[in-house]
Amino acid sequence: MAAEIRLEKVRKTFGKVVAVKDMDLLVEPGEFLVLLGPSGCGKTTTLRCIAGLERVDHGRVYIGGRDVTELPPSKRGIAMVFQSYAVFPHMTVAQNIGFGLRMRRAPKNEIKKAVQEVARLLQIDELLDRYPSQLSGGQRQRVAVARALVMRPEVLLMDEPLSNLDALLRLQMRAELKKLHREVGTTTVYVTHDQIEALSLGDRIAVMREGEIMQLDAPNEVYDMPANVFVGGFIGTPPMNFLRAEVRKEDGGVYLAVGDFSVEVHKEWQEKLEGMVGKKVVLGIRAENIEVRPTPEGGALPARVVVSEPLGAQQLLTVQVGKDVLKVATSTELSATPGQTIGLVLTKAKIRLFDEESGEALKFD
Ligand SMILES: Nc1ncnc2c1ncn2[C@@H]1O[C@H](COP(=O)(O)OP(=O)(O)OP(=O)(O)O)[C@@H](O)[C@H]1O
Ligand SMILES: [Mg+2]
Repeated sequence: MAAEIRLEKVRKTFGKVVAVKDMDLLVEPGEFLVLLGPSGCGKTTTLRCIAGLERVDHGRVYIGGRDVTELPPSKRGIAMVFQSYAVFPHMTVAQNIGFGLRMRRAPKNEIKKAVQEVARLLQIDELLDRYPSQLSGGQRQRVAVARALVMRPEVLLMDEPLSNLDALLRLQMRAELKKLHREVGTTTVYVTHDQIEALSLGDRIAVMREGEIMQLDAPNEVYDMPANVFVGGFIGTPPMNFLRAEVRKEDGGVYLAVGDFSVEVHKEWQEKLEGMVGKKVVLGIRAENIEVRPTPEGGALPARVVVSEPLGAQQLLTVQVGKDVLKVATSTELSATPGQTIGLVLTKAKIRLFDEESGEALKFD
């Protein structure tokens, strides 16, 4: 069973802090939605408003079409997994998983069956008689997820569930959560500040900043077409590069001036940029859409090497173009010493433009 979640103008303040700012959000039944954003942007508070652990100042919360705004967590059909996946140390794995069902006074044989089923799903059925102290971090995490799933919630809410695990386990658990979601299909809202985790897990990602959703789209959309400079700069390793530029026109052609250098633009943009001649813009481009050449000859944008970092398969260069600092990736073969001037070729189709003042993406369609 999977329910739709709908927030209507939900607002939550703590004194002067507006943690959630009149948020509208629709999570489709069965969807895996990720709330992503920097520390303090209101992710946990949003999740707690859905769960009923916070009383909203105003606005409504609907789960499965039902207005649950005034209902306690136990009446909302939700289950939660927290960052500090507190399992009870004095109970076995089986007792931990069955805890919620016992509270509900479910019959013993039913509990046993449900616990075994969900334990099998999470591949911890061999561990049912152990105590939490006899488990690895990843296994304990799975117990916490099992304990939530056994309740057969219509909605599963997870707040940074993997952040206490080491890097390798995180990777492994991430893939397992994805597989698990495919199998159970529960509507899931997943909070993280890790953009890679968000890109990997989400059907859609809501990128938050200061209590507001900046962009809500599929991972590739958020990555490729950021709604503003904040989103482009938050998502991606390295983040999107930004260059200050000005729209200019010469000999009938429109181009972008970056210092003394002209960057050609896509044919389709020529006409649309006509009306913006003289306007300052921010040009955004991702590292993988910049070709690095040993010298600026042949019409490449000149850039001064600041730092070179060999990262195994690739070399990451920090370069300076005018006053702007960019991160570009190139093969380890290219020798780039600090102070040297190299050349950058930007893939025209991958250039994104933003309003210089508001930082919002300029849309041409
Ligand atoms: N109980 C509270 N009392 C007062 N302020 C709070 C409370 N809970 C959260 N806040 C504030 O509300 C804002 C949003 O907090 P929230 O915990 O939702 O952020 P977050 O996005 O989950 O951050 P993190 O990634 O660090 O967990 C922050 O400014 C925080 O200080
Ligand atoms: Mg949080």
